[in-house]
Amino acid sequence: MASIFKGLIFYLAVVALLSGGHAHGKNQAARVYDVTKYGAAPSKGDNKDAFLAAWRAACHSTAGNSTLLFPKGTFAAGAVQFEGPCKNGNAPAVVIDGVLQPCSGRGGGGGCQLSDDAWLTFSDLNNLLVTGAGTLDGQGHHQSGKAKAKPTTLVFEDVTNATLRGLGLVNSRGFHVNFRRCTRVVAEGLGIHAPAASRNTDGVHVGFSSHVRILNSVIGTGDDCVSVGPGCTDVVVSGVICGPGHGLSVGSLGKDDDGEQDVRGVVIKNCTVNGTTNGVRIKTWPGSPPSRASNITFQDITMDNVSNPIIIDQRYCPHDHCADADKPSLVQISDVTYRRIEGTSNSSLAVRLLCSEKRPCTGVRLDGINLTCGGVPCRSEFSNVRGSVAQVLSSPGPAVQREEAADDVASSGTEQLGRFTWWLPFTVRGRRV
Ligand SMILES: *[C@@H]1O[C@H](CO)[C@@H](O)[C@H](O)[C@H]1NC(C)=O
Ligand SMILES: *[C@@H]1O[C@H](CO)[C@@H](O)[C@H](O)[C@H]1NC(C)=O
Ligand SMILES: *[C@@H]1O[C@H](CO)[C@@H](O)[C@H](O)[C@H]1NC(C)=O
Ligand SMILES: *[C@@H]1O[C@H](CO)[C@@H](O)[C@H](O)[C@H]1NC(C)=O
Ligand SMILES: *[C@@H]1O[C@H](CO)[C@@H](O)[C@H](O)[C@H]1NC(C)=O
Ligand SMILES: *[C@@H]1O[C@H](CO)[C@@H](O)[C@H](O)[C@H]1NC(C)=O
Ligand SMILES: *[C@@H]1O[C@H](CO)[C@@H](O)[C@H](O)[C@H]1NC(C)=O
Ligand SMILES: *[C@@H]1O[C@H](CO)[C@@H](O)[C@H](O)[C@H]1NC(C)=O
Repeated sequence: MASIFKGLIFYLAVVALLSGGHAHGKNQAARVYDVTKYGAAPSKGDNKDAFLAAWRAACHSTAGNSTLLFPKGTFAAGAVQFEGPCKNGNAPAVVIDGVLQPCSGRGGGGGCQLSDDAWLTFSDLNNLLVTGAGTLDGQGHHQSGKAKAKPTTLVFEDVTNATLRGLGLVNSRGFHVNFRRCTRVVAEGLGIHAPAASRNTDGVHVGFSSHVRILNSVIGTGDDCVSVGPGCTDVVVSGVICGPGHGLSVGSLGKDDDGEQDVRGVVIKNCTVNGTTNGVRIKTWPGSPPSRASNITFQDITMDNVSNPIIIDQRYCPHDHCADADKPSLVQISDVTYRRIEGTSNSSLAVRLLCSEKRPCTGVRLDGINLTCGGVPCRSEFSNVRGSVAQVLSSPGPAVQREEAADDVASSGTEQLGRFTWWLPFTVRGRRV
């Protein structure tokens, strides 16, 4: 008993040693860099400098395995960039147990600076872990007017081998999370929430990145729950519960004029989409320059009350402000599989594949689609879909007719207003391929 007691005292002493104070002088034992030890306080209008001081200490610590800690409490800060590289090549672990909020105002009180780009950025880092029981609160609902900056809450930029786990992100002003030029990133167990009416508040956006996993998270915002932008390869989204919002998207693609990089290898599976405007979507801008989006799979998705459950939109033009609204997109979409997608549409539409007349979609497969559209028959719309989509609607009987019709549309290339509307008398049901 006594030895257990001694052991406990020893343990507590070690814990106290590890979590107390910051390293200075010769003794580098401390590995936890608590922002409050560097001057951060809930009462401060802008804790940016304290955050950065703690970050520098953790990042340049020679002790190894250091932790940057944001303890419980609410802390405000302007835009902060946690930059690497760090000593011996590895980033500290970042534990956020408190609530972080942007300081108020764009260039307002106490020199507080916010930009439209990013609020909290982690850049040029390797082996980064950002986790904790805390919340990043963008305070988006406190915004008034256009004067306020609309930064992405959390950006990982040029980061390799990173994990973002367990945090809550709420009410962002812009996107909640953006992985930009990252390799091997896992985001899991996130809870992301913003009002359905808040514009451009995507949950997790991925761009110019490869080997990204977005897993087991609950995301509901005023825009896409997840969006996979240009230049991405090997992105897997699994176990995401999405809604409200605009659904799970690849895109938007082709917005920029100069050579956007392709999207290759996206899997979106085992997700639930509930009360959203779109379910699973691929979107490209009208008049977009040439690029490719290929090898994209959506499977095992449950839809509940979704307005456009399955949609490819190559004339994506939100708010109707597109210079090239009448020009076709030159983004080539190919090898897209929809497999085992079930549930309910909020509209009479189940499937809308509206591809580009200049770059018809190829290799589209629909397999095991089981959607119902309230009391009315589900309707599907196809344009400029070449070839195998026909095999798709492979239920017996009328399917044959549909097949021919789909092929006609695709291969004839006739204008027909570039569109063909298809009334399905019952749920669309495919066969395994
Ligand atoms: C850092 O942590 C890893 C795993 O947690 C361990 O293998 C490694 O030895 C630690 N390094 C130091 C310097 O403590
Ligand atoms: C990242 O992780 C992979 C797989 O675990 C490993 O092979 C690679 O060396 C790591 N990269 C860096 C820069 O640590
Ligand atoms: C499917 O997603 C749910 C979350 O909606 C998760 O709990 C479950 O582990 C996932 N299953 C697989 C096989 O990935
Ligand atoms: C398609 O993408 C997935 C996910 O990245 C990948 O595992 C698979 O190898 C790719 N297939 C082809 C034919 O490129
Ligand atoms: C969708 O959300 C509603 C509540 O908003 C809930 O009752 C329903 O069970 C959810 N559907 C699925 C498939 O999770
Ligand atoms: C369906 O989703 C819409 C939002 O698109 C929501 O307003 C409505 O309450 C939902 N209906 C049900 C039955 O959950
Ligand atoms: C469909 O969504 C609209 C809002 O977009 C909502 O008002 C309506 O109640 C929804 N219909 C059903 C059947 O849930
Ligand atoms: C389609 O879904 C409904 C309920 O959502 C289910 O009762 C039915 O068995 C499904 N049909 C097939 C062929 O999977």
